[in-house]
Amino acid sequence: MQQGGATDPEPFKAAFRRLASGVCVVMFRRHGRPHGFTATSVTSVSMAPPKVLFCVGTGNDSHTHLSVNTPVGISMLSVAQRPLSDRFAGKAGAAGYDDVAIVEGCGGVLWLPGALAHLSARVAALVPAGDHSIVVCDLEAASVREEEAAPLLHFSRAYHGIAPLPVPIAEPSAGTPDVSVERREPTLVRR
Ligand SMILES: Cc1cc2nc3c(=O)[nH]c(=O)nc-3n(C[C@H](O)[C@H](O)[C@H](O)COP(=O)(O)O)c2cc1C
Repeated sequence: MQQGGATDPEPFKAAFRRLASGVCVVMFRRHGRPHGFTATSVTSVSMAPPKVLFCVGTGNDSHTHLSVNTPVGISMLSVAQRPLSDRFAGKAGAAGYDDVAIVEGCGGVLWLPGALAHLSARVAALVPAGDHSIVVCDLEAASVREEEAAPLLHFSRAYHGIAPLPVPIAEPSAGTPDVSVERREPTLVRR
């Protein structure tokens, strides 16, 4: 078991590698052109009024371009969109994201088509938090895609899909006839 004090980052990192997270791409306009970054920190915060947050590293380019009132589009990626997660986890390059299909969503925010769900939000506050800022946003619209699709997950430094668990079957109690009980371990499918 890894243990450590508050100043030792390793146990902290090791613990959070064990938290499976859905993968999103957060997008906004940077000098009028699409910009975005891959984020697992997107979290719902409040229902009334609806608010979401994400965290952005202070050293990231995105940090420079996010301020109060910036319109933000959030795409929750499907497992088929793994290449987009890699793309937005890297640097934009001189051509920006001209090679990526991007659509305008509610309120003119930028979304990646084919995502599981999309959010349209506006930055309400940036709260400094160490080497990141917590970006709290007012939610303006949310939409989900019609067809079912599996989410892209990030867990233990790798991408995964999900496999549903079988419906739990009760233990046979003493005196009841033998029934076969199917048991399967939780499965994570490495992609
Ligand atoms: C699965 C995954 C999740 C990530 N989550 C975050 C996040 O929540 N916040 C963040 O600032 N960076 C996160 N990153 C890193 C950024 O996507 C990456 O640093 C990106 O290049 C930043 O782009 P920018 O410099 O153009 O802003 C994540 C990367 C990956 C691969």
